Amino acid sequence: MVGDAAGNTGILIHVEDTMQVSKVGILGSGAVAQALGKGFLRHGAGVMLGTRDAAKLADWKKGAGERAAVGSFADAAAFGEVLVLAVKGTVAGKVLEAAGASNLTGKTILDATNPIADAPPVNGVLQYFTGPNESLMEKLQKQVPPARFVKCFSSVGSASMVNPDFGGVKPTMFICGNDPGAKKRAGEILAAFGWDIEDVGMAEGARAIEPLAMLWCVPGFLQNRWTHAFHVLKR
Ligand SMILES: NC(=O)c1ccc[n+]([C@@H]2O[C@H](COP(=O)([O-])OP(=O)(O)OC[C@H]3O[C@@H](n4cnc5c(N)ncnc54)[C@H](OP(=O)(O)O)[C@@H]3O)[C@@H](O)[C@H]2O)c1
Repeated sequence: MVGDAAGNTGILIHVEDTMQVSKVGILGSGAVAQALGKGFLRHGAGVMLGTRDAAKLADWKKGAGERAAVGSFADAAAFGEVLVLAVKGTVAGKVLEAAGASNLTGKTILDATNPIADAPPVNGVLQYFTGPNESLMEKLQKQVPPARFVKCFSSVGSASMVNPDFGGVKPTMFICGNDPGAKKRAGEILAAFGWDIEDVGMAEGARAIEPLAMLWCVPGFLQNRWTHAFHVLKR
């Protein structure tokens, strides 16, 4: 919730935002898709969530207002000038196929996915289906070369993705990707969403970013703490 100078709270557009995005297509219907969807709406964009089953998002749509829409994966991909990929890691490739290559060409895709295997955590540590010298984002970038993937939002909980309150300290979002223009756009969005950005380079950087979600989840699984975020100290 954001507030204005008069102390009113509610859905406000941040007029000072440098986020120049008018239409965002979000592939996904889960906690991440819904949280980022609300965040983009609050920052003034139109948002379409993509799913196999639009009926399950009826309540989200009702609560999200008139700039919110729901469609198929292909509808959402066609709608957005910027896209978010927020589906289960095991099906991410399949969802991009359903979205349609022509709807992804040239678009910045903020990739929030993690390669979590269909297997339980071991003593609080998630199991991944990727090895140490590969990453899900690299696979997706190879699958759709004309899309411009940027890894981000993958190593923080959905509740802290948009303008999280850490007592005045900006948390760090690690990003990577092959296209400088797409990373610049992602950086503008992340700055509007209250993040400091740490660019760790090309798509291979996802080999380092994706495992951060394993680390981030350990306090959750072992101590039921889910509200933290990473912060890089610099001097
Ligand atoms: N939850 C978090 O706090 C968090 C934080 C950071 C990153 N992430 C990552 O973000 C991604 C989304 O996480 P989430 O928790 O929001 O949701 P999720 O439960 O991991 O994924 C839900 C989405 O996956 C799609 N899906 C599942 N099985 C499918 C299949 N067989 N075919 C096509 N689509 C399928 C669903 O499509 P339908 O809409 O059609 O059902 C839905 O949109 C994941 O990769 C997760 O690792 C999550």
